[in-house]
Amino acid sequence: MERVNILLVDDQPAKLLSYETVLKDLGENLIKASSASEAFAQLLKHDVAVLLIDVVMPELDGFELAKMIRSHPRFERTAIIFVSAFALTDFDRLKGYEHGAVDYIPVPVVPDILRAKVRVFAELYRKTKQLEDLNAELEQRVEARTSELAEANADLERRVEERTRERETALAQVHEMQKIESLGQLTGGVAHDFNNLLTAIIGNLELLSSRIPSGPDTGRLLDGAIRAAERGASLTKRMLAFARRQELNPETVDVVELIEGMAEMLDRSLGPTISIATEFQPDLVPVRTDRSQLELALLNLALNSRDAMPQGGRVGVSVVREKVEFSTQYLGAGDYICIKVHDTGVGMDEATVRRATEPFFTTKGVGRGTGLGLSIVQGLAQQSGGGLRISSQLNAGTTVELWLPVADAAAAGQSGTRSPSPPREERRMHVLLVDDDALVSASTEAMLRDLGHEVVVASSGALALDVVRASNTLDIVVSDYLMPGMNGAELADHIRKVRPALPILIVTGYSDTLSSDKRALTVLAKPYRRQDLASAIAKLVPQKIAANVVPLGTARRS
Ligand SMILES: Nc1ncnc2c1ncn2[C@@H]1O[C@H](COP(=O)(O)OP(=O)(O)OP(=O)(O)O)[C@@H](O)[C@H]1O
Ligand SMILES: [Mg+2]
Repeated sequence: MERVNILLVDDQPAKLLSYETVLKDLGENLIKASSASEAFAQLLKHDVAVLLIDVVMPELDGFELAKMIRSHPRFERTAIIFVSAFALTDFDRLKGYEHGAVDYIPVPVVPDILRAKVRVFAELYRKTKQLEDLNAELEQRVEARTSELAEANADLERRVEERTRERETALAQVHEMQKIESLGQLTGGVAHDFNNLLTAIIGNLELLSSRIPSGPDTGRLLDGAIRAAERGASLTKRMLAFARRQELNPETVDVVELIEGMAEMLDRSLGPTISIATEFQPDLVPVRTDRSQLELALLNLALNSRDAMPQGGRVGVSVVREKVEFSTQYLGAGDYICIKVHDTGVGMDEATVRRATEPFFTTKGVGRGTGLGLSIVQGLAQQSGGGLRISSQLNAGTTVELWLPVADAAAAGQSGTRSPSPPREERRMHVLLVDDDALVSASTEAMLRDLGHEVVVASSGALALDVVRASNTLDIVVSDYLMPGMNGAELADHIRKVRPALPILIVTGYSDTLSSDKRALTVLAKPYRRQDLASAIAKLVPQKIAANVVPLGTARRS
């Protein structure tokens, strides 16, 4: 137990001594003062718990002393007990309390009472002090805890912010992909419908040109119409390439040979003010990609360079082999051939570089750019398993890198998958033509008849199946792919169950849908010309001729 200080104030030493004797047993610190000034001096020196004051003193009366002590903030709560032999009326007591006393003890003092009263206030002081200490410690702990919490909170906020940023970036990427995806769907849809129309237009024009007696202008007019329709076809091809619905025809391509083969075309497209230089690392290996799409991509890059150099300049095309050790967001680890197209043109600022591959983003005037060029190049790179990288600065030229994966050895062996079909003898065949679009159907029917075949037409898969079941003279089925109810691939499945040997040719504008359920189908892309149709049928029918030849040979022997 910590001792507290008790200050005894009386001008008579005998009385001080008697208080001291009475209070000694409390075990507290007793301090004595025989005048008001001495009392003040002691108060300033010690923390005093209880003050025992004689009311009547010669120098200053106890009430005045108490008042002065109370007015000091440090002693606001010090317990003051008056002791008095005189001034014992109720009025005096009241005055004492008004001056801040907590008790008023008459003389002669009953020792036990004095001791008990002082003990109560000493104890109260000690308890209050303990409480205050406890409170201070608590406050300190609360403060420490609060700052810990504030730190944890700040950390949490930082992490939430980080996550939010990550999420936002991811969301933005998803949005971008969705945007491109829906643009692709839209473009693909439009291109598909156009392909159907162009199939009918080109087909009918071709038939017309062989039938109309040639007048002075007829040939020229028909030719013009066919050429315009073919330009339309190449536009839809571009749109489909963008929409990534154009099935790539991956093959092993020797990039150097391809670029050398394009030299004249590139020269012509770049014009006389632009020089072109090529540089190939020796012993390059081939890549695996679509040959004609790659040509188109390089042409796109060259045309961009031309547009960036209206006053002329230089284009450099270099090809090197690169190894990527670690996968990144843009490129997986592996072996690549990197085609760099560099120009000395106006370059791009950072924002343009960032948006350059966005579909339909162009800085060229109306009618001068569609903004599809780079997005097609990027589509080709990504579909081939590679990537596209653009580095450019304003007025410091541009370098576009097209990364394509090296063809693996197994694939490299089977190059030239596109061997032209051998010419063959025309043979009159029974063809079942399936198409839900009357316009396209009529034009293909006319083409087939023009080729000398007999044609049965069905406008749906179900009707076609009825024909297949009822007839056994059919030589081949030519069917559209995208039809309501049953698509071309499903129809082919059903037909195979009934007539496994009957050849089936699928014509389609959407080859992407096909690649998922190709089931070894032969496909002809729309729009096609008479000759394309003839050779596609020819590729399928040799099996049929062979089937016919065998029994013939057996017949001869028997
Ligand atoms: N070599 C280059 N130098 C400077 N800017 C370029 C270069 N290549 C592309 N760009 C910028 O990127 C934009 C997009 O190019 P992209 O090839 O996709 O479309 P485009 O050339 O405008 O139109 P399109 O190729 O369809 O005719 C261009 O409009 C141009 O601002
Ligand atoms: Mg372009």
